[in-house]
Amino acid sequence: MLKFDEATSKRLEIAYQGGDVSRRRRLAFDALHLSEGDVVADIGCGNGLLTEEIARAVGSSGRVVGIDPSADMRSPASVRCAAFPNVRIVDGSADSLPLEDGEADKAVAVQVLEYLSDIPAAIAEAHRVLRTGGRFVAVDTGCRTLDWFSEDAERMRRVLEAWDHHYIEPRVAALWPRLVRDAGFGAVEVEPCTFCDVTLRPDGIACMLLHLMSRYAAENGHMSTSETKAWFDEQHDLARQGRFFFSLTYYRMGAIKT
Ligand SMILES: C[S@@+](CC[C@H](N)C(=O)[O-])C[C@H]1O[C@@H](n2cnc3c(N)ncnc32)[C@H](O)[C@@H]1O
Repeated sequence: MLKFDEATSKRLEIAYQGGDVSRRRRLAFDALHLSEGDVVADIGCGNGLLTEEIARAVGSSGRVVGIDPSADMRSPASVRCAAFPNVRIVDGSADSLPLEDGEADKAVAVQVLEYLSDIPAAIAEAHRVLRTGGRFVAVDTGCRTLDWFSEDAERMRRVLEAWDHHYIEPRVAALWPRLVRDAGFGAVEVEPCTFCDVTLRPDGIACMLLHLMSRYAAENGHMSTSETKAWFDEQHDLARQGRFFFSLTYYRMGAIKT
């Protein structure tokens, strides 16, 4: 699995404020249909950008609980949300949320379910902490939708194959209707959102993945450092020559506790 350590946290800190990830975060924000006074669980809150946006939207009569097992991710989240007395950033896991039964109006998990070994347990926990009529929103990667151009198709195939190992469950969106219905949710929705780029912007998803994927493949022994560096350099060359192409679909999923 990808380590959400200090180095990853620093890399995400840049990309997560960029145009692409802001747009991805907005997908979740809009689907939550927040109201003043809402109590919201931000499951796997990471560096707290969405947590902060939710805190602003629910106002001082609302509350947000940001839950994440990684101290390196909670640390920037705590700093970012320090000015909001209605936010608590806590150590915890999606399968054991520090909330009472029916305490939350909304629960959200952006790019978290794909990293869990027991997704049904996490969905059951979201169901437990939501009130009847409460809304659960998740955003996950369409892991099979990544289309990334390289002159060296065989090396590109191996980069993608190596990255596949970092997801625990690559088919979250496809499983969503069954998983949430089994847990007692209704009004099930899944919507795709594609990020397609012909430039390699430093703040973009492609650039973030270029760094994360090359580091992951080398550190986990899937490819040599010289091979991943060659791929990394090639992508910058393609971008300079105007021949860069990257496309990836994320899925926004929603369900209501009935
Ligand atoms: C790709 S980051 C997404 C962070 C944040 N939701 C966002 O979109 O900005 C994935 C997050 O899931 C967290 N995570 C990993 N295992 C988890 C678990 N069992 N329960 C809750 N969060 C978890 C990681 O620590 C990391 O912060």
